[in-house]
Amino acid sequence: MRIDVHLTPEDLTEGLRADARAGLTATPKSLPPKYFYDAYGSDLFERITDLPEYYPTRAEREILTAHAADIARDTGVKTLVELGSGSSDKTRLLLDALHAQGTLGRFVPLDVSQPALAAATEAIAKDYPDIEVHAIVGDFTRDLDRIPGGGGRMVAFLGSTIGNLEPGERAAFLRELRGALEPGEWLLLGTDLVKDAETLVAAYDDAQGITAEFNVNVLRVLNRSLGADFDLTAFEHVALWDAQHRWIEMRLRAQREMLVHLPALDLSVEFRPGEEMRTEVSAKFDRQTVATELAAAGFALRQWWTDSHDRFGLTLAQATDRPTRR
Ligand code: AVJ
Repeated sequence: MRIDVHLTPEDLTEGLRADARAGLTATPKSLPPKYFYDAYGSDLFERITDLPEYYPTRAEREILTAHAADIARDTGVKTLVELGSGSSDKTRLLLDALHAQGTLGRFVPLDVSQPALAAATEAIAKDYPDIEVHAIVGDFTRDLDRIPGGGGRMVAFLGSTIGNLEPGERAAFLRELRGALEPGEWLLLGTDLVKDAETLVAAYDDAQGITAEFNVNVLRVLNRSLGADFDLTAFEHVALWDAQHRWIEMRLRAQREMLVHLPALDLSVEFRPGEEMRTEVSAKFDRQTVATELAAAGFALRQWWTDSHDRFGLTLAQATDRPTRR
């Protein structure tokens, strides 16, 4: 087992400083979602995936359970790369199918969180002793060129994490990803699907308040990493469906006027009572938009599967000869 570190905790904090300064001085204020996932936030996310309202994880697992063997047979991949691998829980369905077929030689998980990556990859290295595990601590919007070559690769990007990117970032990311692959190599992409607003909003505003706690956790991260003094009890969790952009937006709403200090940035920020700060977008898709966005980046959709309730889509796509015009 090997772990390459291309993103140190210092790099992460430096990124957080730049992103927090940009986001907190903008109008409206915003913070990028990647900072939710410290140890506590990663744990909260795992709890979200078990909530009755949060269907995406179960729906994607249903699809993978039904089709992992088809994916293994259609692709015959030698190397499985997983972006934003986290706990690599659902990935075992793929590893099992590829392993059973006898083609798999290597697993390459890539994640920003070194602790999460180390724990997950150690467990996988132990359970699949004949597979080479080559973990990469990195950011999938920046470190795709660190993925080892060798052909016969499939990149899995599951959980609808791609929905956290805004349309422009998404197009740039898919082009980068296509550039990191050879023609004929594979992409397995999980995307949550557009559906009624009630179901969508409930998934991001659960009755137990776990998602609210997850949302507020970004402020806890800022307090700890930047010495900030956000009052965690003075922000309210907001989840709304933006039908025009076709995304769920999470926000934190200031319940009173506040002046927040961020000594590490030498910055103080004012919040008006009721002011809302955006903390995440989670875009929702349909088959056509997925196919169109993939084609624009140089991927051809080969298979499209949904769960039994058509809530979630899993796409198997293949890198075409060359990326089409941009
Ligand atoms: C892991 C980014 C796909 O957007 O649904 C869950 C994160 N945010 N509940 C999502 C999340 C609020 C999740 N992703």
